Parts: sequence; structure tokens; C-alpha cells
Amino acid sequence: MGFFSSSTQTIPISGDIPNHVAVIMDGNGRWARKRFLPRVAGHKRGVETVRTLVKKCAELNVKYLTLFAFSSENWRRPEEEVSFLMGLFMDALKREVVKLHDNNIRLILIGDSAKFGSGLIEQIRVAEQLTANNTGLTLTIAANYGGRWDILQAVNKMQLAHPEKAGQFVESDIAEALSMHYAPEPDLFIRTGGETRISNFLLWQLAYTEFYFTDVLWPDFDDQAFLQAVQSYQQRERRFGRTSEQLTSSSVDA
Ligand code: IPE
Ligand code: IPE
Ligand code: MG
Repeated sequence: MGFFSSSTQTIPISGDIPNHVAVIMDGNGRWARKRFLPRVAGHKRGVETVRTLVKKCAELNVKYLTLFAFSSENWRRPEEEVSFLMGLFMDALKREVVKLHDNNIRLILIGDSAKFGSGLIEQIRVAEQLTANNTGLTLTIAANYGGRWDILQAVNKMQLAHPEKAGQFVESDIAEALSMHYAPEPDLFIRTGGETRISNFLLWQLAYTEFYFTDVLWPDFDDQAFLQAVQSYQQRERRFGRTSEQLTSSSVDA
């Protein structure tokens, strides 16, 4: 079963905690370089930030947290860094999965996992299966993920499933076939590390998401930095095309 309602249909109540937060975790390499450490030391330290953020989101009752861990373009990095990241990923999965499960967190991976080693693929399967029925926070890790890849696989999938509908597909058909079909669209997008770009993250779903960019490097992104992002979000007026005046009549629907 998918989650077919677009977040552009109903305006969430202003001042609420975002229901879905999507994050580009950037700046690990620069964090390390500033300390004359190898880049990979930044990645290692970045895992700590993931841990604290997951905890904070569960505490605040954020329902979906989606983290960009490795893009389809990150294979272009030096082989040594790529294999370090894969190893780190494997270790973190092994070490954290029971803790996630104990905290009622559901873990889901999105991205083209075919390129990963068989050990990692198996570890992902085990973690997803163990936590599949958890009802707390849904933690999605985007690994070997690209927004264009996702839209393309969705289009191919829906055409194969419904050849009779060719030429008649609607937006919800794509939404249903995307890898994150189980989640509503993100309310808040955060990118750390100072760059102001999407880098091929969730292209379809970010259509009406509120963007927050910070210079804070990912390993330094602590609870306080996250709360600042949430506070910024809470002050936004989401209009989805309407006028500000239309919003004053409470709970506007499409
Ligand atoms: C983000 O940090 C982590 C990944 C892309 C895996 P970077 O490694 O991109 O750090 P910077 O941007 O070089 O500082
Ligand atoms: C984006 O970060 C991908 C992840 C955080 C996983 P990058 O650091 O790879 O992005 P670009 O290449 O600078 O846009
Ligand atoms: Mg970067």
C-alpha cells in the first residue's frame, strides 16, 4: 500500500513539528580537513550525528526522517573513500539495528542496491525485515540513490504494470511507483555543509518542501542546530499556490 496523498493537497498546520524531514548530510570531508585528519575521519564522526538526530526526531515525534548517505554520483570518488563508506555503512547497520528495533524504529533503504556487495545487501535485508512492523519513526537511508534514477525506475515500473494505461498516467501513478511510496512528501529539507543545491536527491517529492541550508558541517550538526532548522520551518507560511489571505480560514483543503 502506498501513501498517495500529495503534501500539496492539504496545508499542514503552521507551527507544527515537520512530519517528514529529509537531509543531505554534507561537509564531512571539510570537517576532517579542518582538523588535519583524513576525509574518512569526518565520515566516521558523521555517524555520531546520525545517531543523535535519529534520537531527537523520535523524541520530537517526527514521523519520517530521510537521510542521503551516498548518491549515485558518489561512485566517482576515490576508490579508497568509497570502500571506506561501504564498510562504515555495514558496521553501522550491524551495530545499530537492534537498538533501532528496540526503539520501535522502522528502517528502510532506498536506492539501487544492486551495486553493493552481497554481504551488505544481506545485512540491509535483515535490518529491514526485523524492523518492518515498527510503528515509531520511519528512518529511510538513501544509498546509491539518485532522484533521476528513482523517477526513471518509477516510469518503467508503472508502464510494465499497466501497459493499458499508456498515455493516461497521472501523478499519483508515479508517486506510487517511486521508492519512497510509503511516505508523505518531505515538509522540511535540510542541507548542511554550506552548499545550496539538491545534488539529485528527491526530485519529485521536493516540489513544495521548505528548504533550509546551513553552513554547519555535518559532524557538527547537533540537537541545537537541528532545532534551529525546525524553528525556521515553524515560521514559514506554506501556501501551495494560494494567497496568504486564503490561509487565514483554518485548515484549507484542495
Ligand atoms: C558528505 O560529506 C558525505 C557523503 C557524500 C558520503 P562529504 O564527503 O561530501 O564532505 P565534503 O563536502 O567534502 O566536506
Ligand atoms: C550529496 O553530497 C550526497 C550526499 C550527502 C550523500 P555531495 O557532497 O556528494 O554533493 P556534491 O557533489 O557536492 O553536489
Ligand atoms: Mg560534499
